[in-house]
Amino acid sequence: MKHLEENIERVLLTKEEIAAKVCEVAEEMGDFYKGQEVVMVCILKGSVTFFADLAREIPFPAVFDFMCVSSYGSGSVSGGSVRILKDLTVDITDKHVVIVEDILDTGNTLSALFEQLKARKPASLKLCCLLDKPDRRTKPISADFLGFTIPDEFVVGYGLDYNEAYRQLPYVGILKRSVYEK
Ligand code: IMP
Ligand code: MG
Repeated sequence: MKHLEENIERVLLTKEEIAAKVCEVAEEMGDFYKGQEVVMVCILKGSVTFFADLAREIPFPAVFDFMCVSSYGSGSVSGGSVRILKDLTVDITDKHVVIVEDILDTGNTLSALFEQLKARKPASLKLCCLLDKPDRRTKPISADFLGFTIPDEFVVGYGLDYNEAYRQLPYVGILKRSVYEK
């Protein structure tokens, strides 16, 4: 993975730090849901790694489902609108639902998605994010369960991409500006 690593400015969160945090978040969710069944919605593709790790630590019965939404083009600046590219397959009416997302940035994607899912009348709807970049928020939304608050830097790895690359890195790293400021 040398060709990927040479574009990383520095490692922000190590594999070990992430693993420890995933356990903490799972415990917190366990205290909240108290053994109730929860529909865990993985937002493709960025949260796949986080979702897979989190799902193996949660102490309550879970149903997995997957959604793919798009707000970003191929670059690093948010577009604003949200399109559902792949919808859920389970009916979430009267279910406890938690959206599992990689990163909360401007909040555009998640606030639009939140409204769409709320309209389906779940018993509850919560948001679990690995990362939060509060400096960039334009919508009044916050995570109910959060891994890490991070500075306003473009990060990749542990599922997060730049132009579909870097998702495979086992840590979260800051991408060198020279990669996207060309
Ligand atoms: P928002 O709508 O601006 O909150 O954007 C959320 C989405 O943008 C995330 O699900 C990511 O796919 C992407 N994103 C935002 N910041 C970063 C980053 O630093 N690295 C990689 N993807 C990011
Ligand atoms: Mg993305």
